[in-house]
Amino acid sequence: MELKLQFQGAGGQMIIRAAIERDLPEILEIHNDAVKTLPAVWTDAEDSLDQRATWFHQRMELGYPVIVSESADGEVLGFGSYGRFREKSGYDLTVEHSVYVKKGARGQGAGRKMLLALINQAREDGFHAMVGAIDSENKASIVLHRKLGFEVSGILPQVGYKFGRWLDLTLVTMILDEASAPAATE
Ligand SMILES: CC(C)(COP(=O)(O)OP(=O)(O)OC[C@H]1O[C@@H](n2cnc3c(N)ncnc32)[C@H](O)[C@@H]1OP(=O)(O)O)[C@@H](O)C(=O)NCCC(=O)NCCS
Repeated sequence: MELKLQFQGAGGQMIIRAAIERDLPEILEIHNDAVKTLPAVWTDAEDSLDQRATWFHQRMELGYPVIVSESADGEVLGFGSYGRFREKSGYDLTVEHSVYVKKGARGQGAGRKMLLALINQAREDGFHAMVGAIDSENKASIVLHRKLGFEVSGILPQVGYKFGRWLDLTLVTMILDEASAPAATE
């Protein structure tokens, strides 16, 4: 994936680029901090570096993007990616994405820039729909998605739990093109 975009964010210069192997420890730290502290990720199990590397390599092999936002001094501020939404072939043209911004770097435009980059990439790669599955308490993420044109398509009540309480899942969707559905097979 050829991607390098430069922006002036609220916190200074910011680059959005394809992730490389060397970013994995910082990606891991951002992910695991979210696991420990936020209801955004519905697990208590932190990843190991090996698990993150496996995830990264699988995404690369399947041609899916993993991107990071990087500060002027080379710090990874956040990461984003998308992959297959569901397994059956009818979902071939739909991807599910996620974006995570590091504590202390939120609210400075990294989430918006990464999500825009993922939308552009998904369009370029010929996908038809994008889905985000967001903890319904996560107002920042829901506002961000709505601002970029996602629709709230459904709320699944109490389908998850963390920190001793039930969590609702808000599904947001964006249709990326006006293509007709692939022809029926005999
Ligand atoms: C949700 C998240 C990705 C947003 O990224 P961010 O870099 O903090 O957001 P941005 O600065 O790009 O803000 C984008 C828009 O979202 C809105 N927004 C951001 N944080 C907000 C908040 N706390 N409350 C309300 N709206 C908020 C802003 O209105 C902003 O719009 P603007 O660009 O017109 O000002 C980030 O806060 C995050 O990583 N949170 C923890 C992990 C997580 O929840 N990931 C998403 C899982 S679905």
